[in-house]
Amino acid sequence: MKILVLHGPNLNLLGTREPEVYGNMTLKEIDQRLVMLGRELDIEVRTLQSNHEGALIDALQDARLWADGVVFNPGGYTHTSVALRDAIAAIEIPVVEVHLSNVYAREQFRHKSFISAVCKGKITGFGWHSYTLGLRAVIDSINKSDS
Ligand code: DQA
Repeated sequence: MKILVLHGPNLNLLGTREPEVYGNMTLKEIDQRLVMLGRELDIEVRTLQSNHEGALIDALQDARLWADGVVFNPGGYTHTSVALRDAIAAIEIPVVEVHLSNVYAREQFRHKSFISAVCKGKITGFGWHSYTLGLRAVIDSINKSDS
């Protein structure tokens, strides 16, 4: 099984970006932990970050050719992007939406997600563990769809 972990804008700054909201761990450290968890579970995890909406759309379209599922933190595009929603709807593999912070405990504009309705599910508010939970969730949903 192969999983893409996709990070959107500003997540490359994790570690120094608003640590009181997003924690102290860098994106590189999070990615390493996800690859390690993948190894334990016998899953290939590939990670990618982009600050550009089009590059994220390209990555989602490309993932349908090689990945079984996607763990996706679209960052600020969560709350703005019809195009990312359309890309998720267009690919036929499960996508799990993740956020480090609890978006519902924050500003009103973060309560709206353009992508939730086309995702398999959503995990929000567990810091970097949101990604490990998201990875386990997408694997679980792929395994269930096989049986
Ligand atoms: C975020 C939440 C978004 O509202 C914000 O724009 C981000 C990060 C999170 O992981 O908590 O960039 O997706």
